[in-house]
Amino acid sequence: MISGGAGYIGTHTAVELVGAGFGVVIIDDFSNSDAAAVEGVRRITGVDVPFEQVDTCNEEALRAVFRKYEFDSVIHFAAFKAVGESVSEPLKYYRNNLASFMNICALMREFGRPNILFSSSATVYGEPDALPVTEQSPRQPATSPYGNTKQMAEDILRDCCAAYDGLRGIALRYFNPVGAHPSALIGELPRGVPQNLVPYITQTAAGIRECLSVFGSDYPTPDGTCLRDYIDIVDLARAHVAAVKRMTGGRMKAGYEIFNVGTGRPVSVLELVEGFEKANGLKLNYKIVGRRAGDVPAVWADTDLANRELGWKAERSLEETLRSAWAWEKHVRGME
Ligand code: UD1
Repeated sequence: MISGGAGYIGTHTAVELVGAGFGVVIIDDFSNSDAAAVEGVRRITGVDVPFEQVDTCNEEALRAVFRKYEFDSVIHFAAFKAVGESVSEPLKYYRNNLASFMNICALMREFGRPNILFSSSATVYGEPDALPVTEQSPRQPATSPYGNTKQMAEDILRDCCAAYDGLRGIALRYFNPVGAHPSALIGELPRGVPQNLVPYITQTAAGIRECLSVFGSDYPTPDGTCLRDYIDIVDLARAHVAAVKRMTGGRMKAGYEIFNVGTGRPVSVLELVEGFEKANGLKLNYKIVGRRAGDVPAVWADTDLANRELGWKAERSLEETLRSAWAWEKHVRGME
């Protein structure tokens, strides 16, 4: 069962799971997605993937889903994710992101279902002392309620796995998910002005935004702009398949594990902009402005653990990824 399965990462994960032979049920409340996303999954897979419109904070409605479907694993994506909004509306984030996750954990226990995969974030590493970050790198105090909900949910999962016999948990810490499915039938669909770099770039290229602002060029990095680990969305989705196989395939007893999901390759903002221009043969209107509050200069993943233990590694090139991001934007805007 995939909660938040109509979202950006959820839809791509559903497609890869179905492709790997898993039966999937998607639930979503459509608070930041819509039915077209579920249709996209069905079109790509050719499977009439079951869908239930449910808010994971509604325990009774969620219990009905557990009664109706016999899944043994849950991937929990359903959460709010706007960093800035979480600062001005902390209760909205704590209530939604934590109540929903506790409902999931409680129902897994109630129904004796063993496997929980939680959608965490590299944001838990804050500004790291050493790079690349491994799963052993210390978590830093969260700088936003959003980041705090990721840390707290990781802890909830860890504690539940320690306390409840037979419960297995994996937290995947995503770096920066980007790109879209090669079919261009699913992708990232931010509401309003995009906060993340790649959607801002594709909307600028499409003429919806006038000019990309590059936040800061005086960071202690080779070209002065921030370094991130941009992970292709299909590669990221496949990491979930590998993690579910680990939990269902007898390779993981009980307990709780954490894996970084990134490429291990740092890319600067300017490199990403130039990469996008080159991959798609166009020029992007951009200007350098001041730093954005809360940005860390550099963070990228040590992926050894995921490579070794999940037998997974990022495969798509940044060029392919950035081409897919543009193909998706054109599809959404009817620019084909
Ligand atoms: C952000 C969140 C992070 C969250 C992740 C989800 C912040 C501080 N962090 O990560 O908690 O898990 O999204 O995807 O919001 N940039 C520009 N111009 C733009 C937008 C971004 O220059 O218009 C730069 C940023 O300064 C940063 C890089 O691009 O250096 C990536 O930014 P973004 O896509 O927002 O991701 P993060 O900030 O890494």
